Amino acid sequence: MAQPLLYIGLMSGTSTDGVDAVLADFAVSSKPTTLSSVSLPMPQALRQQFLALNIAGPNELQRAALAGNALAELYAQASLELLAQASVRPEQVRAIGAHGQTVRHAPAAGYTIQINAPAVLAQRTGIAVIADFRSRDVAAQGQGAPLVPAFHHAIFSGEQPRAVLNLGGIANVTLLDGAGGIRGFDTGPANVLLDLWVHARTGRAYDADGAWARTGRCNQALLEHLLSSEPWFELAPPKSTGRDLFNWAWLVQRLEQFGVQELSDQDIQATLQKLTASTVAHAIDHHAPDTREVIVCGGGALNTGLMQDLQGLLGARVHPSSDLGVPVQLVEALAFAWLAWAHDHGQAAGLPAVTGASQATVLGCRYPA
Ligand SMILES: Nc1ncnc2c1ncn2[C@@H]1O[C@H](COP(=O)(O)OP(=O)(O)O)[C@@H](O)[C@H]1O
Ligand SMILES: [Mg+2]
Repeated sequence: MAQPLLYIGLMSGTSTDGVDAVLADFAVSSKPTTLSSVSLPMPQALRQQFLALNIAGPNELQRAALAGNALAELYAQASLELLAQASVRPEQVRAIGAHGQTVRHAPAAGYTIQINAPAVLAQRTGIAVIADFRSRDVAAQGQGAPLVPAFHHAIFSGEQPRAVLNLGGIANVTLLDGAGGIRGFDTGPANVLLDLWVHARTGRAYDADGAWARTGRCNQALLEHLLSSEPWFELAPPKSTGRDLFNWAWLVQRLEQFGVQELSDQDIQATLQKLTASTVAHAIDHHAPDTREVIVCGGGALNTGLMQDLQGLLGARVHPSSDLGVPVQLVEALAFAWLAWAHDHGQAAGLPAVTGASQATVLGCRYPA
């Protein structure tokens, strides 16, 4: 038996819905075993602070510092729950990979900001923390995103061309050609616009199972307007995006330009859902037409309406990562445990073919236990 090599991964993504956490053993690094997992919802007040920090405003430095501390406390709570569930002691864990909360993503301007307080997390848990995973790739002229393709390759690659699709707030796709080739990029919004619209119209945080969208119909003319009015969709990879672009102002401006008086709220939801599906399907068809299967992870994989829209547009078989043994909500958290493992093993996880960086880089910065 190989010595256990335990890492924790903590992910809180663009959706700002919560923290997904996993404790895994990387003794066989291509086949991590999950020992425990936890998902903690983001407290409403903290969520509002992060959403406010996405937009320029007064006293940002102090608000960012305090939000980072509060997030680290939530991360610590998740980490301690993972240890308790698995009866593991802090000193048995090599490190925690902690993503932080993205509030700005502007690689072209030379920065991307993930709010975090790794020192607080190390102090509360007694475990080393690896954080700030994106800045080194941006320093090498990369997008700093997506970072998960190297991990997707490590655990999901097969002999057939496969795509791994993460449907978080933003959608990102990893294209594995079956012969070691790895590409990947963001395709646009996954859930972010869906969540904004359903919340504005019904007060619900998200459209569970796509049930509300199912009571409406996609409007083809609106879909075409959303696609043609946004030049980002036409950009060639490498590319990445975030709430900086796909936000409430983006949506409202386009709905007003188009004039949606004839449409029901549910028609708009159905159209936004189709926007996600069609931008993803276009990316896969255009860049990897040989793809045989699409493995889907992230919260959007739980939206059966969205999964049906995707399957309707793609020739490849669309199925959730849980079919391959990894629950959809844990793939990203496991990726950050793996990125911490990669940091410790000097493995460059920032891939120039994905991010456009001038060189492959080892990602993250270590805060000792
Ligand atoms: N049962 C469900 N039905 C529809 N959508 C869901 C469901 N569960 C989660 N989601 C969507 O997934 C999102 C969270 O996905 P997640 O992978 O955590 O994204 P992120 O990485 O951006 O935090 C929610 O905001 C919601 O839009
Ligand atoms: Mg999330």
